Amino acid sequence: MHKEAMVTPWEVEGEVDYQKLLHKFGTSAISEKIKKRIEKCHPLLRRGIYFSHRDFDKWLEAHDKGKRVSVITGRGPSEKMHLGHLVPFLVAKSLQEQFNCEVFIPISDDEKFYVKENLGFDDAIKFSEDNILDLIALGFKQGKTFIFEDFVHTDIYKYAAKIAKRITYSEAKAVFGLKPENNIGWSFYPAMQAAHILFPQFMRGKHISVVPVGIDQDPFIRLTRDVASHNDFNFEKPAALHAKFVPSLTGGVKMSSSEGTQIFLSDTEKEVENKIKKYAFSGGQATIEEHRKHGGNPEKDVSFQYLKFFFEPNDEKLKKIHDDYVEGKLLTSELKQILIEKINAFLKEHQKKKQLAKKQIDKFLLKN
Ligand code: TRP
Repeated sequence: MHKEAMVTPWEVEGEVDYQKLLHKFGTSAISEKIKKRIEKCHPLLRRGIYFSHRDFDKWLEAHDKGKRVSVITGRGPSEKMHLGHLVPFLVAKSLQEQFNCEVFIPISDDEKFYVKENLGFDDAIKFSEDNILDLIALGFKQGKTFIFEDFVHTDIYKYAAKIAKRITYSEAKAVFGLKPENNIGWSFYPAMQAAHILFPQFMRGKHISVVPVGIDQDPFIRLTRDVASHNDFNFEKPAALHAKFVPSLTGGVKMSSSEGTQIFLSDTEKEVENKIKKYAFSGGQATIEEHRKHGGNPEKDVSFQYLKFFFEPNDEKLKKIHDDYVEGKLLTSELKQILIEKINAFLKEHQKKKQLAKKQIDKFLLKN
């Protein structure tokens, strides 16, 4: 029997049925019309990792009318970053390129400090600083991208206080499933994240922002949308784009570091090669003879999925890899080799840019 999936901002368990979640949360599927508008965006967006939204059509419409639009998405710095962490940021960057808008990136060091029992205060700050360099290295536009840390940027606390006043304890509890034994940081943090999401409007005035996030973060979006229209603020309700979880190398539901099989952005070439060879779940057959005869299953094959969502933007090349795999012309070992080379090329560039980011950091960090 299937265990009913459990999805909250802090826990993901069991088999996730995304269609059910979409109904349960009351969000909209991404229509053909929207798909046309994001044809040139990052593969994560146009090839289906993003499967649901709230008001993204309104965001596009506002953009088309020449109104201000923006993108906001954040990072909880609980550890060094791995590939799965990049999902919302790659999408934010491609929205910035397509629609020439500002991007806001809050870093919730406070959230991870409260929620992760073993994460010390100084660790949270250390990971913030390191993660910020990774984010800058992705190539966001200078002057149009604003990064800020909860522990550092004091304005955010003022906004959070204004919001906290309009959220009752029982609302926060109902939305997040707070438990009596949770420390009280957990109950305040939702006001911080709502302040992040409304930050573009606090800073620039009323306009529509979109939040690309994992579907597990939707409770924050719902709460923020309710608060936005309160008389105190009279803001636009933020739009959202919801992602499925990217499968872990071993084929599990969510890439999470507890498995120890993640591709970290700091990995060496050899580490990448070893991890892919050892862990990447294969959709191929047990023996070469069988594989040649029956072919592999790209839908189940994690190496293929990573090429599809991250590393092979060219549709024709991806199709050829797909078809060759299905026909048994391409072996799992060869497919893995393609992925290894792509990841290593990406990481080599990334690690170089991360070094350079140290000098650019002041251009991206918001001042108090
Ligand atoms: N809570 C998010 C996480 O754990 C990070 C985050 C902080 C965020 N602020 C945000 C995401 C604002 C979206 C919007 O990953």
